Amino acid sequence: MENKTHFPTHQDIYIKSIKKLFLSHFSDNIPLAVVKTYGCQQNFSDSEKIKGILKNIGFDFTTDEKKADLIIFNTCAIREHAEDRIFGNIGALKNIKKEKPDLIIAVCGCMTEQESVEEKIKRSFPFVDLILGTDSIYHLPQMLYSAMKERDKIIVERGKSRDIIDEDIPTFRGNKLKASVPIMYGCDNFCSYCIVPYVRGREKSRAPESVISEIKELVDKGYKDITLLGQNVNSYGKGLGEKINFADLLKKIDAINGEFWVRFMTSHPKDASFELIDTIAQSKHICHHLHLPFQSGNNRILKEMNRHYNRERYLSIVNYAKMKIPDIILTSDVIVGFPSETTEEFEDTLSLIKEVKFSSLFTFIYSKRPGTPASKMEDKTSKKEKQERFRRLLELQSSISDEIYREQIGKIEKVLVECASPNEGKLTCRTGGGIVVEIKGKKDLIGKFADVEITGARRCNLLGEVCGD
Ligand code: 5AD
Ligand code: SF4
Repeated sequence: MENKTHFPTHQDIYIKSIKKLFLSHFSDNIPLAVVKTYGCQQNFSDSEKIKGILKNIGFDFTTDEKKADLIIFNTCAIREHAEDRIFGNIGALKNIKKEKPDLIIAVCGCMTEQESVEEKIKRSFPFVDLILGTDSIYHLPQMLYSAMKERDKIIVERGKSRDIIDEDIPTFRGNKLKASVPIMYGCDNFCSYCIVPYVRGREKSRAPESVISEIKELVDKGYKDITLLGQNVNSYGKGLGEKINFADLLKKIDAINGEFWVRFMTSHPKDASFELIDTIAQSKHICHHLHLPFQSGNNRILKEMNRHYNRERYLSIVNYAKMKIPDIILTSDVIVGFPSETTEEFEDTLSLIKEVKFSSLFTFIYSKRPGTPASKMEDKTSKKEKQERFRRLLELQSSISDEIYREQIGKIEKVLVECASPNEGKLTCRTGGGIVVEIKGKKDLIGKFADVEITGARRCNLLGEVCGD
């Protein structure tokens, strides 16, 4: 665990007080916390900070809710289905709390930044002790202290989006090889279907020195695969005192000594520049992988989505990337059934997928998010029709993924050996493009890079052999 020293001093005072409170409450046993994370990598990164704070307080972690003294749900609001599932899981805590009245239950993350969710939690789940918004993680010690002191009250802090970035929150990383490093927070894009700008607030970038020093520290500690995170990494640098863009930041990161990979997500096509592609092509450490969500292949729908690029602009970036980086692996996000999307417009999405050939896709059926412009658009397409479009999309992508995987057979790929595979005697590795490769090999290869020859392709992974074996 990294434990940086400049965590806001007044929070340190609360940490000491909570330690005392917990020790008297739980009679010298080490208190246990469940931190359950839903949604995207940003949320997982936030949870590493929540765990860092809890570790400082003296908690250990468990996944068994019945054993926990504190349960925190870090929630996701991106689709209705995700929210419903989370509400269901919060509801299920009622019985655990009945058995163990001392248990503290906290809900944080994107869902809590909606007023309607605060109301629903208060109304339907009165056993929740604490609601904490996305920009209040640094306040967790103080909020926990209040929740413990005032057991009959729900403590709420949300809607506190601030201009500053809390740089020194301790981080508890669950993995010793792979690490996420947020480079920016929030989103200014307001895609018409998306709730993120409303729940995560305006874009703010971390200072380059903070990003670089965190990555240097990670590389020194032996981390090998570092993912830079942001809702729109391509607009990195906006609002910083100095003139720096995302390509400049990547160049600085690439100059760090050591053996490591760096990748990033998510790129927005409207800001993805040719300079960015050139930077990847010329770099030592940046993976040949571009996750570039296109959302729709039809220009009218892209306009309705407020995406600020068209199909032609998207294809020009992708084709430039393919020319400059022939082994580039492309992945993307796509939404089916956006309000008013016709069958012909959906076919444009299919044709773009055929043209680009993504190695894999994150596929979504449009979900209405209250408060977004798209939620007010007329949507006459039936659920059945949307599901049929979704089925066609998955079928097409599955055949393209198969084709791309088969094309890898015979190639030599550099992989990072990540862990033992569930299959006896095998190891699980990942290529720079993020494709899983299973190899035969001894466990001492774990944590190292290796060159492997790809010998076979399965549905979701490749098979390989270490070169020279
Ligand atoms: N409905 C369906 N998919 C959505 N996404 C974002 N908002 C919605 C929504 N309302 C998808 C987009 C985005 C990914 C993270 O989630 O494809 O890129
Ligand atoms: Fe949502 Fe668009 Fe921002 Fe991505 S870029 S988080 S899809 S508003």
